Amino acid sequence: MSVKIAVVYYSATGAVHALAEALAEGARATGAEVRLRRVAELASDAAIDQNPRWRRHADATAGVGIATVDDLAWADAMAFGTPTRFGTPAAQLKQFIDQAGGLWNEGGLADKPVTAFTSAYNRHGGNEATLLSLANVFYHWGALIVPPGFTDPAVYAAGGNPYGTSAVTGPSGDDLQPAVLDAARYQGRRLARTALRWQAGAALTGGAPAHAPNADADTNAEADTNAEADTNAEADTNAEADTSAEADTNAEADTSAEADRASQTA
Ligand SMILES: Cc1cc2nc3c(=O)[nH]c(=O)nc-3n(C[C@H](O)[C@H](O)[C@H](O)COP(=O)(O)O)c2cc1C
Repeated sequence: MSVKIAVVYYSATGAVHALAEALAEGARATGAEVRLRRVAELASDAAIDQNPRWRRHADATAGVGIATVDDLAWADAMAFGTPTRFGTPAAQLKQFIDQAGGLWNEGGLADKPVTAFTSAYNRHGGNEATLLSLANVFYHWGALIVPPGFTDPAVYAAGGNPYGTSAVTGPSGDDLQPAVLDAARYQGRRLARTALRWQAGAALTGGAPAHAPNADADTNAEADTNAEADTNAEADTNAEADTSAEADTNAEADTSAEADRASQTA
């Protein structure tokens, strides 16, 4: 039994590319079949030319296959990599992800193990925010998020980010520390092993159910109606509660008035 893993990433100056290669290496070491894919560049040649490191990396990786939504459909598990850009994923990766609406609608992304990695100039420059932002997408897919957690010494050695491997490039650029590459390899192994276990479990239970988020419009309509009914029920209950509260207050006021009258009489 072996699993198919898509490693999909964007990298302008090479750091995330190095992580993606290391993660792919780790996954392959478990016997997984891996597709390493970069997403399409959206920046103009003029913009790339302004940064010699960006131009160099773009030219050096021209031969890496461009990711397509079919790669996601093919994969049993996926890893996504992006540089940290103002504390969020790069637009290039998000643009690719936004093409996956059709596959999502068919349920083709549900139940797939998925993990993420990033690179930032600064240790506290938004690496975790970027990974958590990507995780929002995975929740919508109904994917199974596979974080490194603190499950291996390699995570600690690379700075201890349980959300996903994060390179801190600083002025050294894409010349990454061996420890961070080890953490990426570990993340790839962990993703592949998790996918294998999931696949073995699916074989035992007859496979994962088909998920098509919008397949049964009637069911959704019914759910909406119930939601409305519930809201009304709640409103009624509140109305009742309010009335009771008011009654209680009045009762209390009456009692006080009675007490006042009694003390005046005495
Ligand atoms: C537009 C832009 C925004 C960036 N925003 C951040 C940021 O919020 N925090 C940070 O630490 N580094 C930031 N960086 C630096 C990159 O995240 C960092 O250089 C990263 O390692 C590049 O990865 P790459 O070599 O794979 O392109 C930014 C870079 C650019 C070009």
